[in-house]
Amino acid sequence: MERTFLMIKPDGVQRNLIGEIVSRFEKKGFSLVGAKLMNVSEVVARQHYAEHSERPFFGELVDFITSGPVFAMVWEGDQVITTARQMMGKTNPVEAAPGTIRGDFAVFTGKNIIHGSDSPESAVREIGLFFQPNELVSYERTL
Ligand code: CMP
Repeated sequence: MERTFLMIKPDGVQRNLIGEIVSRFEKKGFSLVGAKLMNVSEVVARQHYAEHSERPFFGELVDFITSGPVFAMVWEGDQVITTARQMMGKTNPVEAAPGTIRGDFAVFTGKNIIHGSDSPESAVREIGLFFQPNELVSYERTL
């Protein structure tokens, strides 16, 4: 069973897309094992996006992700890392297929609604950056 870190960015929160997005992952069959509405500090934003630190848009990226609350989540399920990325669509929303989250709701790369871990290593790192172990639950489906 895999876990991934997904984060609805400030644009997704302000456009009231939390319910829509959570619903898509629930209906797909994944389990929500952690979630919180929070502000991202500049320190955490810089760590989260460290791999982009040399890119020209890094400052813009940090400013945006710290500009308002995000909805940080941990989801669990088979192949959840890859499947969630497919459900999100390509980074540039103009290239994202209809039916994907970015394809349906976004237009700009810098405001593309949602972030998702791109590998098992990123998932572990990002979950650890945003969540304490005791903020995550673990349960068997019995109902
Ligand atoms: P995300 O999946 O959160 O990971 C890195 C983010 O950088 C990406 O989504 C985009 O929002 C952002 N990004 C990537 N390329 C550009 C770009 N050319 N200009 C602005 N933002 C970008």
